[in-house]
Amino acid sequence: MSRRRQIYEGKAKILYEGPEPGTLVQYFKDDATAFNAQKKGQIAGKGVLNNRISEHIFKSLATIGVPTHFMRRLNMREQLIRQVEIVPIEVIVRNVAAGTLSKRLGIEEGTQLPRTIIEYCYKNDELGDPMVADEHIACFGWASQDEMNDIADMAIRINDFMCGMFSGIGIRLVDFKLEFGRLFDGDFSRIILADEISPDSCRLWDMKSNKKLDKDRFRQDLGDVAEAYQEIARRLGLLTNEDGEAGAVLDLDAHRNKKGK
Ligand code: TYD
Repeated sequence: MSRRRQIYEGKAKILYEGPEPGTLVQYFKDDATAFNAQKKGQIAGKGVLNNRISEHIFKSLATIGVPTHFMRRLNMREQLIRQVEIVPIEVIVRNVAAGTLSKRLGIEEGTQLPRTIIEYCYKNDELGDPMVADEHIACFGWASQDEMNDIADMAIRINDFMCGMFSGIGIRLVDFKLEFGRLFDGDFSRIILADEISPDSCRLWDMKSNKKLDKDRFRQDLGDVAEAYQEIARRLGLLTNEDGEAGAVLDLDAHRNKKGK
């Protein structure tokens, strides 16, 4: 099926040339990596679930006026997106201490932060995506001040919306990572949300039990990784019929793989 030209292969996704100029096809793999790709594995059905979950979140964000690269879902593992020039900055939004924030600063995991924190990391695998300040971003020209203002405004709006969305289904949005891109229109460009939002790029804890329902289950070998991603999809209403549909999603995918993509 995919005889299209591959543009880029990342750790969890592949980008192919799209059907029209200015479009790409984003393919979601089951591959998982952690700790700057030192730990590698596969999570069965992850690509299918992340495709659905990210579609749902991007579409919901569009309804509140956040511009995104998402155009439409094409099939179980692929979505059509607008081609953008990715800003080489990972934007991390934190509501609760966890991960590297806890490690770096010695703040106990699970501590509610008195205010939301936004951090920036320079996207560079060789350097291990180091954390940078606004000054570095301006000094090295990775993004303009106007672009960074737009990015920070959008990150806060996205956080407000997602905190509400997840709390409505009994989930605490601990932290997450966003990526943005430049959409060109002649000589002008504007910033839109790109990449994905999924349990790969968010920390999501059950509000009652504090159970982790995200990639930390893979990072920390906690088991039931695919089940956690399914649980998020199910609570978001993306798998209507509990057991049946979750199974159907994965079975259909196996069928597709058998046919050779
Ligand atoms: P962080 O605690 O900075 O790093 P780590 O995941 O290595 O402990 O991560 C904060 C959130 O951002 C977390 O939900 C994972 C997500 N994230 C990514 O998806 N990709 C990344 O490259 C980084 C650094 C974070």
